Amino acid sequence: MAVPTAVEDLLTRFEDALLAEAFSDAPFVSEAATHIISAGGKRFRPLLVFLSAQFGGDVDEDDLIGAALVVELTHVASLYHDDVMDEAELRRGAPSANAKWGNSIAILVGDYLFSRASARVAKLGVEYVSLQAETFTRLVQGQIAETRGPGEDEKPLEHHLQVIADKTGSLIATSAVFGGMVSGASPQIIDALRAYGEELGVVFQLSDDVIDITSEETGKTPGTDLREGVPTLPTLMLDSSTNPDDAELKSLIDGDLESEDALAAALEGLRGHPVMDRAKAEVRRRAELARSHLAVLPEGEAKDTLAEVCTELVERSA
Ligand code: IPE
Ligand code: IPE
Ligand code: MG
Ligand code: MG
Repeated sequence: MAVPTAVEDLLTRFEDALLAEAFSDAPFVSEAATHIISAGGKRFRPLLVFLSAQFGGDVDEDDLIGAALVVELTHVASLYHDDVMDEAELRRGAPSANAKWGNSIAILVGDYLFSRASARVAKLGVEYVSLQAETFTRLVQGQIAETRGPGEDEKPLEHHLQVIADKTGSLIATSAVFGGMVSGASPQIIDALRAYGEELGVVFQLSDDVIDITSEETGKTPGTDLREGVPTLPTLMLDSSTNPDDAELKSLIDGDLESEDALAAALEGLRGHPVMDRAKAEVRRRAELARSHLAVLPEGEAKDTLAEVCTELVERSA
């Protein structure tokens, strides 16, 4: 992906700022808080902040880095908590915080990182605090709704799409909006960035859920959702199948996947199943929808890169 040089420079500056923001007076807190940050990560949300800031006027670089810090700190904090909930042992190719120090520490360090995000967003002003709070509300509500599952009167697929819009789309949309806000972009541009980010966030999660099944190179244990019984688009599509040939795979997936063999069999069954192609087609369809929201943005490198992000999400799960 061709990222504008100015944005590359910002991403480089961002790395030091992120570590600095995570440091604490207490050495163990610094160690535990920087553990997942230093392990890697795509910095997808900071990238969106920086690209979206190319559509307004003059930008205060400290504020721009600050906005990126807020979204990445919030994201990383949510990963600490998510890995407790999903009992995940691997994150960004490193042992998860819960695997390394236990659930209590992982939860508290997640809280610490949320508190760092709050401290940083306060410096940006009340509009930012307010949007950050709304975003955090949606993220947490999404995680709660996923944990509880659909109610009796809810359709599982609709419920799932709302879950991913809330748990993932909300923060990705806010990343794009923050970029627009910091650069003083027009309300029309900010609306387009929000619509793009919201749709892109859903695509991001759908494509992540596909590669969680198809790829060994995510830095996470493949099939973690499957093992925990967390529904994703492919498994929901399989659930609604009435084909008797699917009964065996369905019962395997619904069964106990604690053993490596059982999980490997479930993954293999899904990989060879047509629902994977249907899920990929949905990623493609919604990536085009995300791209369509860019129409009102002025032409240029930043717009091209935002469009390329859509292509990239399709290609990584193709
Ligand atoms: C992981 O997010 C959680 C999801 C929303 C799927 P990322 O895929 O952005 O994780 P990192 O930051 O690159 O590790
Ligand atoms: C990630 O959910 C969403 C948040 C952390 C808010 P997942 O559980 O699907 O993400 P991974 O697969 O662990 O990264
Ligand atoms: Mg998870
Ligand atoms: Mg999860």
